[in-house]
Amino acid sequence: MKWFKALNKVQLPGLNAIKTVNVNGKQLCIINNEDNMIATQSSCPHAGGHFSGGWCKNGHLVCPIHRYEYDLETGRGAEGQGDYIDIYPTEVREDGLYIGFEESWWSKLWG
Ligand code: FES
Repeated sequence: MKWFKALNKVQLPGLNAIKTVNVNGKQLCIINNEDNMIATQSSCPHAGGHFSGGWCKNGHLVCPIHRYEYDLETGRGAEGQGDYIDIYPTEVREDGLYIGFEESWWSKLWG
């Protein structure tokens, strides 16, 4: 796992807010769900809606376009959707928020 800094502490989204960041070449959404920082992919797998306009409901991220819901812990879509989103590990450290990325086999060879 490689960790990349995404935000300084003062830039963290407020309670239940969603912020878009670019980190390690990917666009992600950082969601403050009851003071837990969750990092997800930024676009909805259903039809590409951007999660920055979405909101949290009972531990789920709701897409603003057709209101599909995704579990903020597992990334699984609600029953009947049959889809999922990527969730990235997060860590709030002294100097800000870090996001963990799995290392691919090629980065282990060449990184
Ligand atoms: S684009 Fe997200 S629910 Fe349709």
